[in-house]
Amino acid sequence: MTRIIAVSGAASGIGAALAEALRSGGDRVIGVDLKNTEVTADLSVPEGREAAVRGVLDAAGGRLDAVVACAGVSAPDPVTIKVNYYGVVGLLEGLRPALAAAPAPRAAVVGSISGTQPLDPAVVAACLEGTEDEAVRLAEEAVARRHGGLLYPSSKSALARWMRAAAVSPEWAGAGIPLNAVAPGVVLTAMTAPLFEDPAMVKVMNEAVPMPLNGHAGPEVIADALRWLVSPGNSHMAGQVIYVDGGAEATLRGPEDY
Ligand code: NAI
Repeated sequence: MTRIIAVSGAASGIGAALAEALRSGGDRVIGVDLKNTEVTADLSVPEGREAAVRGVLDAAGGRLDAVVACAGVSAPDPVTIKVNYYGVVGLLEGLRPALAAAPAPRAAVVGSISGTQPLDPAVVAACLEGTEDEAVRLAEEAVARRHGGLLYPSSKSALARWMRAAAVSPEWAGAGIPLNAVAPGVVLTAMTAPLFEDPAMVKVMNEAVPMPLNGHAGPEVIADALRWLVSPGNSHMAGQVIYVDGGAEATLRGPEDY
């Protein structure tokens, strides 16, 4: 039977590669993005997240087999917290009841190697324990202190921590829904293209994210891993952050931290 899979960020990069791979494998994809997809919605705001959930459910027509949240931004701005944390959590929680009714439901998110790097602990704590208003206020304060660059790693760390807790809860594992993350290193997409224009930036990036195995990845590499996570074959993996990063995480954290 054709599986129906919602993919956010489907207009570009990893989400677009995933949507294409799923479609060529016979699945039906409902893309969610700011433009050029089946469902147009802005995941940075609560109304946009509600519109995304409604739009996916309408398009799905009563059956939703999997959700993959790829949409993300890497700006040194509070919008990064709004999209990468609240946009993902809002979409997944909104679609969870529909997933729970599917015969083999699956869900996955896109983290990042950045989630293991220096971050703003107050912003992460506010995401996990506070309100969105509080998290955004703390993110604005970080920008005012010229620490906006910590917001992307903070968003991805908070997302990984939320995912690991949610994945083993009654709502996800208890409802038979495997929930996991793929955490890429550097992927060649629109998000990183500007960085490659500046050789000094490439040097900084390669030092921050060393990728001894095959270097920078194409988006289809990450899409392949996501595809398996949401396939019927993944019946027992829950709460895992899978680093598809050319060896960056093992290089940076070393052999003891696994
Ligand atoms: P991309 O820029 O090619 O695609 C991101 C997509 O998200 C775009 O289509 C964009 O329109 C959409 N999006 C952004 N804000 C949105 C909003 N408010 N509402 C709805 N859609 C929105 O970037 P890429 O590289 O494909 O990124 C996908 C995911 O992978 C992101 O979560 C990113 O953080 C993550 N990632 C990317 C890495 C890279 O090196 N490119 C490395 C690690 C993680």
